[in-house]
Amino acid sequence: MPSMSQVEALFCRSAPWETATSRWVLPWALQGVQPNGALLEIGGGGGAMAAHILAASPEPQTTTITVTDFDPRMVTAAQDRLRAFGDRAHTRVAYATALPFADGQFDMVVSFIMLHHVVDWEQALAEAVRVLYL
Ligand SMILES: C[S@@+](CC[C@H](N)C(=O)[O-])C[C@H]1O[C@@H](n2cnc3c(N)ncnc32)[C@H](O)[C@@H]1O
Repeated sequence: MPSMSQVEALFCRSAPWETATSRWVLPWALQGVQPNGALLEIGGGGGAMAAHILAASPEPQTTTITVTDFDPRMVTAAQDRLRAFGDRAHTRVAYATALPFADGQFDMVVSFIMLHHVVDWEQALAEAVRVLYL
């Protein structure tokens, strides 16, 4: 499933998507872990998950998120959605398999409902590990 259709991409930026994913997917995926520090989200779509992570952060001064996606329409949508968070949120067009970041740059890397789109998913995971501060 390498890429999404126009309809899927639109749905991923919609209010029902945000409601469903933040209510069910996010808590399930985080399993009680409270993200903090410098976060990277890969394939972040319209920024729905990032907005919920930032809004729920108990340490807002030290929690930032960089939302990446290979689709510029998604990155624009994320930029709009995350504007209210100011310097705490950054967006960037990036392929999961070739992240434009230095080794060890992030404290936490997250990704939700994305990996099934990536044919070379092993390379995407390798990139996620590379940019993680270990
Ligand atoms: C189903 S949406 C999920 C969006 C977001 N994670 C969320 O939960 O709202 C999948 C996203 O992955 C992105 N994507 C797919 N393949 C990608 C790749 N190889 N590199 C970066 N992003 C990718 C798509 O553009 C899309 O925004």
